[in-house]
Amino acid sequence: KPAFFQVAIDGPASAGKSTIAKILANQLHYVYVDTGAMYRAITVAAKKAGLSYDDEAGITALLPGITIDFKPGTPVQKVFLNGEEVTEEIRSTEITNNVSLVSSYAAVRADLVNKQREMTESNPVIMDGRDIGTTVLPNAQVKIFLIASVAERAERRYKENKAKGMDVDLETLKKEIEERDYKDSHRAISPLVKAKDAIEVDTTGISIDGVVSKIKTIIEEHQA
Ligand code: CDP
Ligand code: CDP
Repeated sequence: KPAFFQVAIDGPASAGKSTIAKILANQLHYVYVDTGAMYRAITVAAKKAGLSYDDEAGITALLPGITIDFKPGTPVQKVFLNGEEVTEEIRSTEITNNVSLVSSYAAVRADLVNKQREMTESNPVIMDGRDIGTTVLPNAQVKIFLIASVAERAERRYKENKAKGMDVDLETLKKEIEERDYKDSHRAISPLVKAKDAIEVDTTGISIDGVVSKIKTIIEEHQA
């Protein structure tokens, strides 16, 4: 078992992974690692370099020159790409709709998986993503697979966008979520799939507080 406690949270888009992981990390004083933000940052790096998102060789060549850093911030952690803040840019519609393609590249995954494992060497972590329980942290003490109906996930994303002043209609969001889930579940390398030893938590119709307390109980059971 790992020297420092590891909680892996995987699941499809907008299941509530980052919201729940952040709250638990604060309560437990664990480091929160948002691996989706890292794949998004690489996608932004491709855009800034003027590369086409389907240019796998070009994007692979960028990797050695890329640094990604997280810094505390409210309401969200700040994300830096080569020292430049990209916290908002990584959530843009263009990046959201191209991140699944960029994250299907072998070199991108190998590079980020290394970085993610390094972040667990000297502290307990809660890490969320798609392949944390299956690939990044296969020995994690706790593995959660967070799901919710597509309708509810689209509704959540819709409300979140509206609060930010973005007006994308519900049907479009639903299609985008379904498309991303399909790509993430069908790629060749470490696709989105529930690890054999993961505990599935269905959050459909459950409040954030409700999900937090459910997972906290699971973590406490495994810490004992
Ligand atoms: O928050 P949201 O569900 O929109 O996505 P995210 O966690 O920010 O991840 C964005 C994208 O990065 C996913 O759709 C995947 O294509 C990719 N990703 C991945 O391949 N592996 C991970 N461990 C995390 C994210
Ligand atoms: O990280 P992931 O894409 O899985 O989801 P998220 O960004 O944490 O959550 C998407 C949205 O759903 C956020 O606006 C959350 O506040 C909301 N949410 C919710 O309404 N109820 C839950 N039980 C969990 C999240």
